[in-house]
Amino acid sequence: MGAVGALVVVEGLDGAGKRTLTDALSTALAARGARVARTAFPRYDDDVHAELVRDALYGRLGDLSGSVHGMTLLFALDRRAAGPLLRADLEAHDVVLVDRYAASAAAYGAARLHQDAAGEFVEWVRELEFGRFGIPVPDHHLLLAVPHAVAADRAAHRERTEAGRERDTYESDGGLQERTGAVYAGLAAASWVAPWTVLDGVAGVDADALAARLLGEEPVSARPAHG
Ligand code: TYD
Repeated sequence: MGAVGALVVVEGLDGAGKRTLTDALSTALAARGARVARTAFPRYDDDVHAELVRDALYGRLGDLSGSVHGMTLLFALDRRAAGPLLRADLEAHDVVLVDRYAASAAAYGAARLHQDAAGEFVEWVRELEFGRFGIPVPDHHLLLAVPHAVAADRAAHRERTEAGRERDTYESDGGLQERTGAVYAGLAAASWVAPWTVLDGVAGVDADALAARLLGEEPVSARPAHG
């Protein structure tokens, strides 16, 4: 790992299990001696744009949630405001783990548009966020892939078990989640912005092996035997 830490982004559908993976990965990285920082977007409690995102996702901002570009701008402005903090975190850590980043804007936004407009849209997001807004470019994306039906079950379970948790307009739209899964697969296949690793979110992820790979080490079990 160089002088500046690696920016590792975790992506996936609502209910894919990103938080569980990020927790396990963060623990596994720290156990290997890495200095780890974490953040998650949208930063609902820390940024005015993210606050507006939450209002829009719960139908409290009139027609705004109907505008794909309007919503995308709000998500992107939250990340733009976080740029200096992310840079400072990267200076002081080996790995900065981010739960959702610009790829979420690309995937969810493209999934809401006509298929013919999707390619142009993801390029617009790339140019807006990494060009115009200059947010740090990820070193790696981890896509936690699960069938959308599994993600929907998990999201429904979370709604039943977590106090005060209600599904927002994106989470309650099964068709959107399914199309978003397809766009994510395309972004991964195209190595959009940075390399992607697709992880099987149903079978489960070996967080320790993943940590070793991210740190550029071989997993212990894969080391050739000596003697
Ligand atoms: P999410 O991370 O799922 O927040 P929470 O689960 O705490 O409500 O984000 C909310 C929704 O916003 C989710 O459906 C994904 C979507 N989203 C975008 O469309 N673009 C973005 O840039 C981000 C960060 C999220």
